[in-house]
Amino acid sequence: MKILRPATVHGQKVFIETYGCQMNVNDSEVVVSILKNEGYSHTDEISEADIVLINTCSIRDNAEQRIWGRLRDIRQYKKNKASLIVGVIGCMAERLKEELIEKEKLVDIIAGPDSYRELPVLIRTANEGGKAVNVELSKEETYAEISPVRLGKDGITAFVSIMRGCNNMCSYCVVPYTRGRERSRNYNTIISEIEELVARGYKEVTLLGQNVNSYNFTDDNGTVTDFPTLLRMAAEVSSALRIRFSTSHPKDLSDQVLYAIRDYPNICKSIHLPAQSGSNSVLKQMNRKYTREWYLDRISAIKRIVPECAISTDLIAGFCTETEEDHKDTLSLMEQVGYAFSFMFKYSERPGTQAARTMKDDVPDDVKTRRLTEIINLQNRLSLMSNRKDIGKTFEVLVEGRSKRSLEDMSGRNSQNKMVVFPAGGEKPGDYVMVEITDCTSATLLGRRVR
Ligand code: SAH
Ligand code: SF4
Ligand code: F3S
Repeated sequence: MKILRPATVHGQKVFIETYGCQMNVNDSEVVVSILKNEGYSHTDEISEADIVLINTCSIRDNAEQRIWGRLRDIRQYKKNKASLIVGVIGCMAERLKEELIEKEKLVDIIAGPDSYRELPVLIRTANEGGKAVNVELSKEETYAEISPVRLGKDGITAFVSIMRGCNNMCSYCVVPYTRGRERSRNYNTIISEIEELVARGYKEVTLLGQNVNSYNFTDDNGTVTDFPTLLRMAAEVSSALRIRFSTSHPKDLSDQVLYAIRDYPNICKSIHLPAQSGSNSVLKQMNRKYTREWYLDRISAIKRIVPECAISTDLIAGFCTETEEDHKDTLSLMEQVGYAFSFMFKYSERPGTQAARTMKDDVPDDVKTRRLTEIINLQNRLSLMSNRKDIGKTFEVLVEGRSKRSLEDMSGRNSQNKMVVFPAGGEKPGDYVMVEITDCTSATLLGRRVR
């Protein structure tokens, strides 16, 4: 672009609000990095902002409804400051494109997940009074060399994206449409980002992708790096750095990954393995490409190779065709695995997905609600059982800060990703301490420090 931006653009303050998954959290950090390099500054105060960006999620209808509500709130800021620029970025921007501007007149910028490098140009267009839209998806973009500006306040834990997009086409899911084809980021840039985080005092990184087990990067020499190799490389950066990763697709969880987890004390003993359903016929409708038996075989591999591993999952209640029998299969799968925790959802039909196009959303809402409640109640019992088994054990805990409940207590997580609360004794966020578990709730382990 030939026109130089007006002097006022320099130093314009950007406020960014993030909805959705961890990948969106990390994308917002990439966005701030891109904009800072162009002379914009970041603010935590929406009232100070010249530019408001909302990084959005489309995964379920209620996620989008929340964002529509928020956009209505933002009108008031625009009333107070006519020059305010409002941008919608992320998955909802990608899904709705120009329709968003038509429906909500205050929106000036629409940018999909692969067009964040274009944001400076889009902002300039908006500053000049134009409507700025870029929702092109890319086969290559991984923002590989961009060093995210960490917006999280703790300075201890950080997300590192290792891939983008998803090729799985689960029939209910909007992600392949909003994030495009799967692509893996160059491992060199991943490892140098991790090294930089360690140098800055970070103690934990979570490697992110929709399906990390299919990470696959071929370098210029033709050498292929797969996920188990990447995990080992990440763990080698520093023994004082914890490595987590999310999410694993059951169809691709190999024993090689489990051996890497077993071999490195700093690779956390926790696996998030979304089952979605315990019924083979529902799994087939969902196009998950595994059976209940395959899933349970992966669970026994985890229990055999990494016995101390905590297992968590995602479950959907009331997907198309789900019968009472199918629902019971989900409950029995939960019991059989003994999940430490779960994210549990009511099926929400997403326009354009295979399910929306070819299946009837035929489970009535009250039935979905009742099944979800049963799933949640069972999970609460399972979480409590899982936590009770930890009473008497001693765990290494990475201290995150004061407990939310009481200032006399500190809290942090163990390797299994369980929250541990214990009486404060002079430890600082970022310290590793040993805590013996003496009690628990279904959500938290309670204990005392041992030397
Ligand atoms: N890539 C990850 C999950 C990404 S979305 C994976 O495959 O495991 C996070 C979770 O949202 C999914 O695991 C699923 O349980 C839920 N989800 C996705 N689409 C949904 C829909 N249409 N309705 C309800 N829940 C949905
Ligand atoms: Fe969606 Fe399935 Fe891809 Fe997960 S693996 S993001 S649920 S399509
Ligand atoms: Fe939502 Fe997009 Fe993540 S739809 S869950 S923000 S990938």
